[in-house]
Parts: sequence; structure tokens; C-alpha cells
Amino acid sequence: MKKAILITGTPGTGKSTIAQMFQKEGFTVIDVGKYAKEHSLFDYYDEERDTYVVDDDLITEAMIELVEKNDSSLPLILDGHVVELPPLFLTHCIVLRCSIRLLRQRLVERDYMSSKVDENVQAEIMEVILSDMLELYGPENVSVVYTDSAVDESFSDVLSKVKKYLDDI
Ligand SMILES: Nc1ncnc2c1ncn2[C@@H]1O[C@H](COP(=O)(O)OP(=O)(O)OP(=O)(O)O)[C@@H](O)[C@H]1O
Ligand SMILES: [Mg+2]
Repeated sequence: MKKAILITGTPGTGKSTIAQMFQKEGFTVIDVGKYAKEHSLFDYYDEERDTYVVDDDLITEAMIELVEKNDSSLPLILDGHVVELPPLFLTHCIVLRCSIRLLRQRLVERDYMSSKVDENVQAEIMEVILSDMLELYGPENVSVVYTDSAVDESFSDVLSKVKKYLDDI
């Protein structure tokens, strides 16, 4: 299937955790950030923010290529931040969210420096990723799932949002 499900959201909302559940169900999962790192698709390393800044054009090109090559009957799962996939290649975009208190707790537990915790918490409060995705793909192609509950429950919430595209499983 030449399509992908995009799982996105602020760091710590649970993208990779949910993506791993899809992997267990037989989906191929691409961790977009990890892929960018492995293939040097970065613009630069921002020391102050302790983060790699991806080259959006290169990463988009690479993801489109992977989607075009996907010969599974299931869509690819793209686990990552902003990927500007042409709508034609998108099955559905899931934006994971999480209560601010819990998000802060998850990020602190990762030993992020406090400026990085604050930056991500602020991004979640401002709904940066959600508004980007709504603008990019339109409300009919974007769903929000909160990950405050147990992982199994969040996964089944995500599955129920994409189920209509997944008649085969
Ligand atoms: N319902 C839930 N769904 C997803 N993750 C959960 C849930 N409840 C608790 N968690 C925990 O929250 C953390 C989420 O981390 P995870 O690495 O999946 O986030 P991420 O969005 O992939 O972050 P990053 O953008 O940095 O890659 C994990 O420690 C996970 O166990
Ligand atoms: Mg992740």
C-alpha cells in the first residue's frame, strides 16, 4: 500500500510507544528522527537546544520514497515530528497529546535539561503540532488521541481512528 499513517505529537506524548504496538501487529514502522540521523538528513545540531534540526525537504523526499516502495498490504507507520507528506500518500494523521502535568513528568524522567522540558511543554500548550497538522492535512484527515491512560487503551483509541482504512486486519 503506497500510503502511510503519520503518528506525531510533542516529544513524550508516546509516539514511539504506540508505534511499537503497531509493529507488533505486523506494520512496518519508521522512526523518522532516527532515520534522519542514520542517513544524515540534518541541517545542523543546535547546541543550545540540544537537538538536531532536520532538513525538512530531505526528510520529506526520503519518506515519500519509502512510502512509494512500500509493498505491504498495510500502510507504513511514520513515527515522528513534522512530515509534509503529500495528502495522496496519507492514510490518516494521528496527533498524540497528553496532559501538561503528565508530559512534564515524562520529560523530567528522561533527564532532559529544564529548558528542553519547558520548550516542549510550551509547544504542547500552544498546540504547535496539532495546528501544523490541521493546516497541512485538513481536519478530516487528522485525529487527536490523548495518552494519559494505559498504553493498551491509547493504542486501541488510535486503532479505532484508523480502522476504516485497515479492513485487512
Ligand atoms: N498511554 C500511553 N501511551 C504512550 N506512552 C505512554 C502511555 N502511558 C505512559 N506512557 C509512557 O510515556 C513515554 C512516552 O515516550 P515515547 O518515547 O513513546 O514518546 P515519543 O512521543 O516517541 O517521544 P520523542 O518525540 O522524544 O521520540 C514512555 O515512557 C511510555 O511508557
Ligand atoms: Mg519517539
